[in-house]
Amino acid sequence: MAIQTVGIIGAGTMGNGIAQACAVAGVKVVMVDIAQAAVDKGLATVSGSLDRLIKKEKLTAEQKTAALALIKGSTNYDDLKSAQLVIEAATENHALKLKILKQVDDMLAPEVIIASNTSSISITQLAAATSRPDRFIGMHFFNPVPMMALVELIRGYLTSDATHDAVKALAETLGKSPITVKNAPGFVVNRILVPMINEAFFVLSEGIATAEDIDAGMKLGCNQPIGPLALADMIGLDVCLAVMEVYLEQFGDSKYRPCPLLKEMVAAGQLGRKTGRGVYTY
Ligand SMILES: NC(=O)c1ccc[n+]([C@@H]2O[C@H](COP(=O)([O-])OP(=O)(O)OC[C@H]3O[C@@H](n4cnc5c(N)ncnc54)[C@H](O)[C@@H]3O)[C@@H](O)[C@H]2O)c1
Repeated sequence: MAIQTVGIIGAGTMGNGIAQACAVAGVKVVMVDIAQAAVDKGLATVSGSLDRLIKKEKLTAEQKTAALALIKGSTNYDDLKSAQLVIEAATENHALKLKILKQVDDMLAPEVIIASNTSSISITQLAAATSRPDRFIGMHFFNPVPMMALVELIRGYLTSDATHDAVKALAETLGKSPITVKNAPGFVVNRILVPMINEAFFVLSEGIATAEDIDAGMKLGCNQPIGPLALADMIGLDVCLAVMEVYLEQFGDSKYRPCPLLKEMVAAGQLGRKTGRGVYTY
């Protein structure tokens, strides 16, 4: 089944980014959120982002008009019925996602594929809340969606090949480079990235090198665009700590022990850029 219209639940950071990526690729979008203000904000974000692409001469004004015309913003879930794929990109809250998924599962035609953009909740568990676990999959986009090439396609225990292949084809239509991943905490990228950041805090706390030298080492020696400690400041130290705590609990393996320095800094309220101070001062 070709996917001609994509429904998106949530018009926030990820929802409007996915909407933009679809519309620029010529795929119709219905983007729903709970309040009109959230829908309007999402649409305005897309418009502003397209303006920046025009300034950089990566897009023409005509292409912007055409892309915006493909996005319908709505507060009515019924509008999702025109989609062949519905991507849930609402707030990261387990109970909320289960409620949303049950609601759309009851409403959508049986052949419609449902995907979730969750960063941390089990795709198999979310799929089990619907009547179509074979037509359910994780589509983990990266922020900012229009710039980032990767989409992790997470196969739940019962996700069918047909579902995987249809969603993979759509990701490629959007110009993305999908990778296929089995359902597991952190999927692939965050499973490797966040423990690396945690290890950088151990190296810092053991006094092995300064923060600047740790970051310079990983940039110059591994060609990473940003050092792990500067990246922790961007992500938020509290988010990094929460992810490590989930890994420790879910894998039951002490290799995921959060670094005590990371815990101390979070306890002190030094969460990174968002509080003006983390490993570095902003
Ligand atoms: N921000 C990231 O870097 C990132 C990266 C990958 C995945 N994710 C995942 O994407 C999802 C969305 O994250 P975000 O950063 O866009 O959050 P966000 O807070 O920017 O946006 C969430 C949106 O969902 C809306 N929403 C809440 N309840 C809703 C409902 N019942 N129906 C429709 N809309 C509803 C909110 O009003 C809000 O506009 C989360 O699952 C998150 O884990 C986030």
